[in-house]
Amino acid sequence: MSAKKAKRYTVTAALPYANGPVHIGHLAGVYVPADIFTRFKRSKGDDVVFVCGSDEHGVPITIRAKKEGITPQEVVDKYHFIIKEAFRDFGISFDIYSRTSSETHAKTAAEYFKNLYEKGIFSEQVSEQYYDEENKQFLADRYITGTCPKCQKEGAYGDQCEACGSTLSATELIDPKSAISGNKPVMKETKHWYLPLDKFEPWLKEWILEGHKEWKSNVYGQCKSWLDAGLMPRAVTRDLDWGVPVPVKDAEGKVLYVWFDAPIGYISATKDWASENGKDWETYWKDEETELVHFIGKDNIVFHCIIFPSMLKADGSYILPENVPANEFLNLEGNKISTSRNWAVWLHEYLEDLPGKQDVLRYMLCANAPETKDNDFTWKDFQARNNSELVAIFGNFVNRAAVLTNKYYGGEVPALGELTDFDKEVLETLRNLPGKVAKSIEAYRFREALAHMMDAARLGNKYLADTEPWKLIKTDEQRVKTIMNISLQIVANLSVLAEPFLPFTSEKLAKMLALPELKWEDAGRSDLVAEGTKIGKAELLFEKIEDSVVEKQLQKLEDTKKANELANAPALPQKEETTFDDFMKMDLRIGRIVEAEKVKKSKKLLKLRVDTGMDVRTVMSGIAQYYEPDEVIGQKVTLLANLAPRKIMGVESQGMILMAEDKDGTLAFLFPEKDVSEGSTIS
Ligand code: MF3
Ligand code: ZN
Repeated sequence: MSAKKAKRYTVTAALPYANGPVHIGHLAGVYVPADIFTRFKRSKGDDVVFVCGSDEHGVPITIRAKKEGITPQEVVDKYHFIIKEAFRDFGISFDIYSRTSSETHAKTAAEYFKNLYEKGIFSEQVSEQYYDEENKQFLADRYITGTCPKCQKEGAYGDQCEACGSTLSATELIDPKSAISGNKPVMKETKHWYLPLDKFEPWLKEWILEGHKEWKSNVYGQCKSWLDAGLMPRAVTRDLDWGVPVPVKDAEGKVLYVWFDAPIGYISATKDWASENGKDWETYWKDEETELVHFIGKDNIVFHCIIFPSMLKADGSYILPENVPANEFLNLEGNKISTSRNWAVWLHEYLEDLPGKQDVLRYMLCANAPETKDNDFTWKDFQARNNSELVAIFGNFVNRAAVLTNKYYGGEVPALGELTDFDKEVLETLRNLPGKVAKSIEAYRFREALAHMMDAARLGNKYLADTEPWKLIKTDEQRVKTIMNISLQIVANLSVLAEPFLPFTSEKLAKMLALPELKWEDAGRSDLVAEGTKIGKAELLFEKIEDSVVEKQLQKLEDTKKANELANAPALPQKEETTFDDFMKMDLRIGRIVEAEKVKKSKKLLKLRVDTGMDVRTVMSGIAQYYEPDEVIGQKVTLLANLAPRKIMGVESQGMILMAEDKDGTLAFLFPEKDVSEGSTIS
């Protein structure tokens, strides 16, 4: 193979919104593939900068802040660090993890806008928007609620009805209300700046539809349908008080639209990284030799393939993305991952439950990545892939190679003797694997790349199984030396080949074999571990995941489901009307439980003695599943005293204790807010 010149890459991974932690869907869709790509390029000796950061503007963050009674800055401060830490813990090797509330970003985004403004790129348009007169502010779509015109349910938002899933526009809502004041909003004129995407359309068609036929079909297809439908000018400013202020005159109270400023975040992050590392950021954004690659999820395609490139093109001094490898979505146990419904495996929780198993998740999410279609993550599958692939193939091979070397040679790498035809065949297969892995990564086919990497472990396993050194050790010591040497070379190769996918495991292997720093070009060689090297003990790479671990995770999801069902269950309908006179017939009083005992043969009943202020009487009460007799003695209660006596389980009950009952059946006593004596009446 001819040595190729090192290339330069700017790799970006979508900036996650800082209004919640990150979950497996994020990792599978964007960050694992981006990290594999970047690690691979670094291993090849290419000059790569890998940038990311928190996306900290936008309406959802202001809404969250309002809900929690804190400032938007406090919201993003909280999640920025949680997200940053989760990425670090999973070995996502960003060169910088920045944030869009930084000073560099505010400056960069404002300058970017200003430059396009001065070039006369934007058109100005006045439109009517909903306005809250009491709070003197324009209302973003999410800040308007009303009745859905499609399903007639209340509580639909100005952009969407969550009850029926329809996409709406704020003016369609019936009986609109401001979510801030609750008042009816009025229509008011406002001026905004628009990026004339229609003018970029002919160029975009040429550049994407003709020039980038190699893009993934899901990406290309989405671009084509946008372009075929025809593009319209898009507002790039908003009336909002959270974001980068629009840096021109007469723009008070206006900020850049979050989707205008966020992708510029890639540039600001590169600037900060460059100045901290003595580099020139412009090389990574303006030099034709640099390849720009955006890793994103499918909901970001239009922004990265159409809008941001138009912004770059409008400026004119930037390179354009070479590729935009977008993934589809990952579902969880058959349902869409949802932050608001807590239907997710959160990265920080995963590490609490399965400490040290970062590579297992990375493996699983790559092997099962939603590369061409939506995919499902199931815990059963997680367990199966761990047990039958990582443990049984990868771990097993490495373990056997290390254990046998330790057993036969005291851990010293034996010399390579004469090679058999079979050895030569195996080494030839090994030599060809790095090229296969590389080719798949370069085509953004990470699942396939991972499978080729695993072929190296399979090859090793098969080699040991076929040569059976444990049988030969008594008869042909020379041959066993060669077999073990070759096996250890395969392990060393695995360390290099697995590094992009399983960085923690790769490092363990490198340490075990005391390997020097190896690069991608070293992979395929059969002299990576020198004869005489003392290797370490076989480290535990992967361990079997038991059913109980999976069951615990499934139980967690079951609990979430139940909690959601309860939260969404409607309140019971109101009972039929009653009269004041009927109500007044009831004698309600405060009493106090003075004795309590279980009732034989009944799970539900407690037999209570209640001090009513008039007497002490027996009341049977169906609370035994919620209270022990001891707990309720002394409890003040509300009693319906004049209920006709009834025999229950052979005991006469003289009245009824009133209980509040929650949706899930939880019972609670009703008692006065301050102490009043037994016999106090209620009306
Ligand atoms: N925050 C966006 C999302 O999670 C992604 C922003 S990507 C960037 O969907 F290009 F805008 F940075
Ligand atoms: Zn609806």
